[in-house]
Amino acid sequence: MKIMKWVIYFFYNIYDCLSEKWEFVCGAFRYLYGVKGQSGFGSSSTADQVVESFSSSFSTSFRLTAIITGATSGIGEETARVLAKRGVRVVMPARDMKKAGEVKERILKESPEALLILMELDLSSFSSIQSFCSKFLQLSLPLNILINNAGKFCRRLEHTTESFEMTFGTNYLGHYLLTKFLLKKLIETASETEIEGRIINVTSVIHRWATIEGFVFDDLLNPKNYNGTRAYAQSKLANLMHAKELTAQLRSPHLQERRANVTVNSVHPGIVKTGIIRDHRGLITGIFLGSDIFCCSEVP
Ligand SMILES: NC(=O)c1ccc[n+]([C@@H]2O[C@H](COP(=O)([O-])OP(=O)(O)OC[C@H]3O[C@@H](n4cnc5c(N)ncnc54)[C@H](OP(=O)(O)O)[C@@H]3O)[C@@H](O)[C@H]2O)c1
Repeated sequence: MKIMKWVIYFFYNIYDCLSEKWEFVCGAFRYLYGVKGQSGFGSSSTADQVVESFSSSFSTSFRLTAIITGATSGIGEETARVLAKRGVRVVMPARDMKKAGEVKERILKESPEALLILMELDLSSFSSIQSFCSKFLQLSLPLNILINNAGKFCRRLEHTTESFEMTFGTNYLGHYLLTKFLLKKLIETASETEIEGRIINVTSVIHRWATIEGFVFDDLLNPKNYNGTRAYAQSKLANLMHAKELTAQLRSPHLQERRANVTVNSVHPGIVKTGIIRDHRGLITGIFLGSDIFCCSEVP
């Protein structure tokens, strides 16, 4: 009887393992070939198509305001373009104001009515974050949407102004602080306008690489052992955990009393040919990006 139990247990585990892997393989193929999911969108859907299907959310008499970090290129620029086209006032904090100006020009060419505000922000400096937030708050604008999108991937050990490892410091610590300073404004706007506020952390499936051994900080600070992919994966795991913890805090009775009608989401944008990928192309991304067989979006 005992042997029988072990045999069943053995085969059940094999079945479990295979079905999990099969699901993963099917998911990967659906993604690579742009097959649409339950939402009606797949990896071949464009930002314009997604926004089009939610057009009613933008047709309020109240002009929504969004802050998008990293809007000077890639996914951030595309997000700024489609939101501005829909009448959202887009605040573009950037460390390179010339680049930001060029993006603004491109967007205005397509949508002359677009309302774009350029401001300086370097996420690798706490004082820059503090200064950006106080300048933004002084404008007395509402804040409906915060998109924590900017991303950094360093091949070699670099440091932020406060001497944190650059990738973790920019992607996680910078966005954590930014969100902390702006949260009150998001909650107030949601309460005053009765429109749900949104915080979106742009993460990556690569966060799974960090879950195997968890956070390893000591190695990160050793130039000989520095591994850029691990640093990036850890920063993305931290972005995800930030979203989860913030969600829990916003649901806490303390904030419920303040009618914290703000939701936090994490999003993996898929594989997109942007600066971050082009600069750090490895074997796997090279195979995907170099091939037209696979569906892979491209943005400036
Ligand atoms: N592309 C993909 O396949 C992929 C996959 C998974 C996740 N993601 C995530 O998607 C997000 C957007 O990345 P992307 O692919 O669009 O890459 P990208 O084209 O390289 O854009 C990165 C943006 O982040 C900004 N940035 C970097 N460091 C900054 C700092 N210290 N302060 C302020 N802004 C800073 C850059 O500004 P500058 O113009 O000044 O450099 C740029 O605007 C990132 O969070 C990335 O991790 C991308």
